[in-house]
Amino acid sequence: MKFFIDTANLAQIKEAQDLGVLDGVTTNPSLMAKEGISGEENVINHYKAICEIVDGDVSAEVISTDYEGMIKEGEALAALDSKIVVKVPMIKDGVKAIKYFSKKGIKTNCTLVFSAGQALLAAKAGATYVSPFIGRLDDISVDGLGLIEEIREIYDNYGFETQILAASVRHSAHILGCAKIGADVMTGPLSAITALLKHPLTDSGLAQFLADHAKAAGK
Ligand code: E4P
Repeated sequence: MKFFIDTANLAQIKEAQDLGVLDGVTTNPSLMAKEGISGEENVINHYKAICEIVDGDVSAEVISTDYEGMIKEGEALAALDSKIVVKVPMIKDGVKAIKYFSKKGIKTNCTLVFSAGQALLAAKAGATYVSPFIGRLDDISVDGLGLIEEIREIYDNYGFETQILAASVRHSAHILGCAKIGADVMTGPLSAITALLKHPLTDSGLAQFLADHAKAAGK
């Protein structure tokens, strides 16, 4: 399973890249705003800066909601770097735009997906990635991981090549759930990735090893 980090924060992206387990980055307009990035030139420069750090796909979301606007924005974003994946919302014009980008060989990430039917449409349109938001479903007491299972079954039934990118991941249990189901990618915060490192027996075991070593060395 590929690990993407879900942030526009350059320091966190660098930290995840330095850990050696990062396969890509997802951003969205809220994450860009959180970093105080606004204005066309600043947004473009920020995407370029992310692409310089990471080895892998970088999702950049269009703001337009009409077909022509999405095509114009998406083509400009895709021209920035071969790592850019054009992130398009799951709306009617978005599906049409994904089909257009797919024919042109431009990578896409269909975002704001909350049902298996939406995921089926995204795959039919030729999306590179589909992003079901599991955390936001859990927030309204709908089983987010259950949706990943449904999409996995549907895509496997027909051999769709669209990759399931589990989004809105909130914690390490989500990551493990996605891995068990067979999601192709997960995108989550740095904290969810680094939480995978932790186990109290690792900490106590290491403390004991170091104490025994020091004792044997007469320290
Ligand atoms: C990623 O592509 C999504 O935009 C993101 O995972 C949404 O996560 P959130 O529900 O934590 O905002």
